[in-house]
Amino acid sequence: MCGITGYIGEKDAYPIIINGLKRLEYRGYDSAGIMIYDGQELNLSKTKGKVADLEQITDNDSKRKAGTIGIGHTRWATHGVPNDVNSHPHTSQSGNLVIVHNGIIENYDTLRKELINRGYTFHSDTDTEVLVNLIEEVKKQENCKLGKAVQIALTEVTGAYAIAVFDKEKPNEIIVARLGSPIAIGVGKNNEEFFIASDASPFIEFTKNVMYLEDEEMAIVKPGRDIRVRQISDDSSVEPNIQKLKLSLDQIEKGGYDHFMIKEIHEQPKAIIDTYRGRMLANQGIIKMAGIDNNLERFLNAERIIVVACGTSWHAGLVGEYLIEEMARIPVEVEYASEFRYRNPIITPKDIVIAISQSGETADTLAAIKLAKSKGAFVFGVCNVVGSSIARETHAGAYTHAGPEIGVASTKAFTTQITVLSLIALKLAKEKGTLSKSEFNTYLQKMQLIPEKVQKLLEIDEKVKEIARIYKDAKNCLYLGRGFNFPVALEGALKLKEISYIHAEGYPAAEMKHGPIALIDEDMPLFVIATNKGHYEKVVSNIQEIKSRSGKIIAIVTEGDVTVKEIADHVIEIPETEEALTPLLTTIPFQLLSYHIAVMLDKNVDQPRNLAKSVTVE
Ligand code: M6R
Repeated sequence: MCGITGYIGEKDAYPIIINGLKRLEYRGYDSAGIMIYDGQELNLSKTKGKVADLEQITDNDSKRKAGTIGIGHTRWATHGVPNDVNSHPHTSQSGNLVIVHNGIIENYDTLRKELINRGYTFHSDTDTEVLVNLIEEVKKQENCKLGKAVQIALTEVTGAYAIAVFDKEKPNEIIVARLGSPIAIGVGKNNEEFFIASDASPFIEFTKNVMYLEDEEMAIVKPGRDIRVRQISDDSSVEPNIQKLKLSLDQIEKGGYDHFMIKEIHEQPKAIIDTYRGRMLANQGIIKMAGIDNNLERFLNAERIIVVACGTSWHAGLVGEYLIEEMARIPVEVEYASEFRYRNPIITPKDIVIAISQSGETADTLAAIKLAKSKGAFVFGVCNVVGSSIARETHAGAYTHAGPEIGVASTKAFTTQITVLSLIALKLAKEKGTLSKSEFNTYLQKMQLIPEKVQKLLEIDEKVKEIARIYKDAKNCLYLGRGFNFPVALEGALKLKEISYIHAEGYPAAEMKHGPIALIDEDMPLFVIATNKGHYEKVVSNIQEIKSRSGKIIAIVTEGDVTVKEIADHVIEIPETEEALTPLLTTIPFQLLSYHIAVMLDKNVDQPRNLAKSVTVE
């Protein structure tokens, strides 16, 4: 949930680390800090706020920036409020060891008390300061090198971590380690330099060679030498697995847009094509998905599919439930990963668990997967980030291929997850014979047209902006939808909440009369999805009920609609498609609306308060 970076080599470390932190700010932006070693001194700068605030402190102070070794951090607070003292890096009592940490040390309180008994004093409220002092204490007790001390200390902690540790007494190396939080090591030419980061984005312009640490592994990086990787539990050595990075610089830049979110909204036509490219061969009437093809018997014999996910990915999972049950007639349950992992669920080897996650690092989803695996279920991952923890932990899976999603509010991740789930539903339906050949082929043809329909929908931007201007000061909003579009209502409400801080709720349209209808008055905007095949008459009745109570109606309808147009205050038309595919279209106006409202309210669209892109803590 925090971002960590590091550099060791011959270049100036400061600009590499600062730029790296800016790219990692999606992971947390409560505070930021950097340590640069100038050959003699550790120069530490840290502050509450963003990396830009940190730069203000360091910019005119060349001493703080000089050096070719350093580590940096951008924080999403867990232990201790965001302030200067709690910001990372943290130093040990002697002042020799410096650490940056992403994760949570769960037994920090016990360790802290033990260390206080041994004469340590603490300045921050963080678990990280405990860890760096524990490493120092082990180093002293065992009279060993930093690497060994880190290894022993980590066997004493419970929780999750990705760390980078530097020792002033041994300034030619950095130690990194991981359990539950990601860490990537970029390898420079001839091992002359190394880059450390929570993901590979901070170093893509410097090297394409990357090694991802596995859980319970640590590595010692030292210029001029191969990376040494060790198993934390028993200190045995592990062969480093260096891969070629496919990420490019323009994928992680704004490319002329004001915000990543709007860039990512506009990337959806391409992202959807990238998701089905090579899998959906519409002209041949085939869907190829290696993760299913190689495990077809398991899928065909599954008694149940359980989807586990969080947030937007959970909403995509709900769309998946409607799709798979409708098309392939397999019972589906959709669970919040955070609930599933702790409620002793009944899982059997005949269950298939589909875990959905953009980042592939969400702690609750990861834990739900491990639980399902321990009970014998087959786990299929739907992830965006290639090589992520969830992608590696699942038995098989399908990447969404949306490209990097940097805005904290998920947009293209959602539509590409739905695309993958549509392909899964269609493929299973074909294999099971629950859709006729002609129904199957019609879906494929219609699916192929979705990207151009999304492109066309993006042209309604001005109209959505106008609606945003009218309703931007609303205090509460309701989003209503039925069937396939009920999850889209939930997602629409989440988008508005997270970036504009306006309270919004999503409901199945018919549920409104069981409570939320009491909220409706002339100040309440209601965003209603009323597509022509989705229980249209019933939704029209719901719209009438709203109208009678003076609510403001903004309806999403199918092109050519007449009835709703006469009742609603505003309508947004979406192009015609199969009802099961409409979530790929109805969600677009909601994304644009949230975006424009947040911009008009002058909110930080890409980095909304209190949030982080990947939630690697419980
Ligand atoms: O990376 P994941 O898909 O596992 O993340 C799950 C949620 O944290 C995420 O979807 C979150 O709800 C987004 N901020 C929503 O826009």
